[in-house]
Amino acid sequence: MAVPETRPTAVIVLAAGAGTRMKSRTPKIMHSIGGRSMIGHALAAASGLEPQHLVAVVRHQRDKVADHIGSLGTGAVIADQDEIPGTGRAVECGLAALTGPGAATLTGTIVVTYGDVPLLTTEMLAELVGTHEADGNSVTVLTAVLDDAAGYGRIVRAEDGSVTGIVEHKDATEEQRGIREINSGIYAFDAEVLTRALTQVTTDNAQGEKYLTDVLALARSEGGRVAAVVTEDRWQVEGANDRVQLQALGAELNRRTVEAAMRAGTTVVDPATTWIDATVTLEEDTTVLPGTQLHGTTHIGRDAVVGPDTTLTDVVVGEGASVTRTHGVGARIGDGATVGPFTYLRPGTDLGPEGKIGAFYETKNVTIGRGSKLSHLGYAGDATIGEHTNIGCGNITANYDGENKHRTVIGSHVRTSSNTVFVAPVEVGDGAYTGAGAVVRKDVPAGALALSVAPQRNADGWVERKRPGSAAAQAAQQAGRTEPNTDSE
Ligand code: UD1
Ligand code: CA
Repeated sequence: MAVPETRPTAVIVLAAGAGTRMKSRTPKIMHSIGGRSMIGHALAAASGLEPQHLVAVVRHQRDKVADHIGSLGTGAVIADQDEIPGTGRAVECGLAALTGPGAATLTGTIVVTYGDVPLLTTEMLAELVGTHEADGNSVTVLTAVLDDAAGYGRIVRAEDGSVTGIVEHKDATEEQRGIREINSGIYAFDAEVLTRALTQVTTDNAQGEKYLTDVLALARSEGGRVAAVVTEDRWQVEGANDRVQLQALGAELNRRTVEAAMRAGTTVVDPATTWIDATVTLEEDTTVLPGTQLHGTTHIGRDAVVGPDTTLTDVVVGEGASVTRTHGVGARIGDGATVGPFTYLRPGTDLGPEGKIGAFYETKNVTIGRGSKLSHLGYAGDATIGEHTNIGCGNITANYDGENKHRTVIGSHVRTSSNTVFVAPVEVGDGAYTGAGAVVRKDVPAGALALSVAPQRNADGWVERKRPGSAAAQAAQQAGRTEPNTDSE
């Protein structure tokens, strides 16, 4: 990753705005795309620069936002914006949180970004800071040229092409509104110039706000170099104001994530139906089949095949494993193991290498040893299963007595027959067997066969006596007549 030679003094992320167009009780910047909130993306990109200080300026739904930022673990300092509105005031409040009242002014580079611009990358910020420092600028602003620039601040340039300032849409003349180069709101500033200029910024404008954008003209008027880095990647400077824009950004982020995965060695058969969070990791030679969603901390090991129609959240898939039509949360799937189709892995499922959890199985909080198989139709919860054990069709761990959960412990090389019920707490020793339909209420010693079903008794002729004339009775009669096979021929 291209990190500039010097670490920026601070990155200040502005996140005090209300975001009313989301029509949501959740603060705008806490809405998610690609597995992270918008502010989460913004802080991740900022952290990549390894700034000495990371600051988030908050105000709207302050406590909720501050708690969320704290939970992201980036170490960002929370700065509260006061009642004076505007991006300039927001930055002033961010700076004040770093210096404290009356302390020495900051030096070095201060980067300003927004909490609602989720596709911005560390690489883009690094390019901005790199240019800013290499050219000895006072201010460097990230800009883009748009077909429709309405609403944005416009970049005003002199005849020689140098940047003279930014004019907000609402304050712009008709002629200025024709400018298509826009202010992204992302900048690198010389800390001393920024601090000094902000004291001179007023709220004397169409919106009555303290504009950060005024700093550019002020820096130039005191003789500083003001420049722009123009990006062609408009997605990286795009913000989300409503859920339509959020969806568009989410789709583009996913397109980028899926493309990056393919370039890094993952076969993705259908990018259009594949959703991969920015936080997911995949090794080389993995295959993702259509209709698959990979979320959170999910990791896919080398040569593994996932999908089709599979959703995994915080699931670790081992090398060479295959996971088909599965819904999994908080599970581990060992190397060479197979899961699915139609399988529900709940948190705490830990399937050993070469193991199997098959069709129509639900598992929760269960550790399954190497080579053990739970192939068809069952529930395994709160259990430990040893190695090379075969759990028969339709087995159930009855782990809940109505009040408490209990564990089932099954050893290695065990063979359980169809429809065994383990009434927990119960233990089954190594090499033991169970009979079909066994209800295992008592521990089974190693090597024993557990039988709990009463011996079978056949009431001969019952159908013909109790259901005379029925199709079953006729079939039985037919069977009886043909059995000796003597009266024909
Ligand atoms: C601002 C820029 C404009 C630029 C546009 C890019 C100013 C004066 N204008 O427009 O030139 O084209 O961004 O999107 O800077 N915020 C605060 N505190 C405030 C006001 C805003 O923290 O008092 C935050 C918001 O949460 C948001 C960001 O700053 O993350 C931008 O605010 P917004 O109102 O969307 O931008 P504009 O002021 O319209
Ligand atoms: Ca505004």
